Amino acid sequence: MMASPKRLDEISCSLSCVVFTGAGMSAESGIPTFRDRMTGLWSHTDPMEIATPWAFRAHPQRVWDWHVHLAEAVHAATPNAGHRAIAELEQRGIRVTVITQNIDNLHQRAGSSQVIELHGNLLRLKSFVDEEVAFAAEQPPIICPVCDGYAAWEEHDPYANRDDLLAIQLLAGTVPHCPGCGALLRPDVVWFGEPLAPETLDAAWDAVEQCDLLIAVGASLEVEPAASLPWRALQKGTRVIEVNPAPTALAEHCHASFAGSAAAVLPTLFGSLWPAT
Ligand code: APR
Repeated sequence: MMASPKRLDEISCSLSCVVFTGAGMSAESGIPTFRDRMTGLWSHTDPMEIATPWAFRAHPQRVWDWHVHLAEAVHAATPNAGHRAIAELEQRGIRVTVITQNIDNLHQRAGSSQVIELHGNLLRLKSFVDEEVAFAAEQPPIICPVCDGYAAWEEHDPYANRDDLLAIQLLAGTVPHCPGCGALLRPDVVWFGEPLAPETLDAAWDAVEQCDLLIAVGASLEVEPAASLPWRALQKGTRVIEVNPAPTALAEHCHASFAGSAAAVLPTLFGSLWPAT
């Protein structure tokens, strides 16, 4: 499973490392991946039915309930040995930036502080801005000070504040509304058909441009623009390692590839790359 020690010697002593993670990173914490044939979430649910803005517009309760179900798995999960190994690197003073596609908050719970969440975070809510409605309106939309959404003041509590919003959680029940403007609330995650937040994507590209080692863990590299990040690292001559029981197309191009699980491989790999002094 391990690449040759010589190969790792050539790779070690990274000064600025990016760990790029996908759903496989959290599989051993009990959170299903998306595309694994038997167990993946998309193997028994059509993502267009529950993870798009138009599905939410048409069936808000159904989309809400599906995300509540996923959030229950996330709350029940704990960081695995892979998450902890990444956080420990940071505690050892190694510059590590985590760029994750995951919405489960497990890197942060393990203690990683430099985490770029490309696809948002399931434990945060934001208001549903119905682009079609917002942009069809004659008047320029008013920004709600509570949820930063497009407000319809006359209907709702002008005295509400952000804490009122933050107090609302992704729990079973009817879809809640912003206490400020009344907009429907939705999980703060990136659905299919939605762009990533420009500042988040910029931060990820910057981290890849600056790193001298990128480790891709548990990502199928099937979703853009995230999937381009490890390839950009290769293209600019950065050393790239992949950890995935089902190696992707990246494996034959990168410096080392480990066909194993995140929790099993990462602690040993980091021990080889950054031997305890
Ligand atoms: N350790 C490491 N990798 C694993 C493990 C494990 N224990 N178990 C599975 N994997 C690998 C699989 O082989 C697969 O390549 O993790 C990958 C998971 O791939 P996907 O399910 O496609 O997840 P991901 O790459 O994160 O998907 C990208 O797609 O559905 C959208 O927004 C969603 O962020 C997600 C994006």
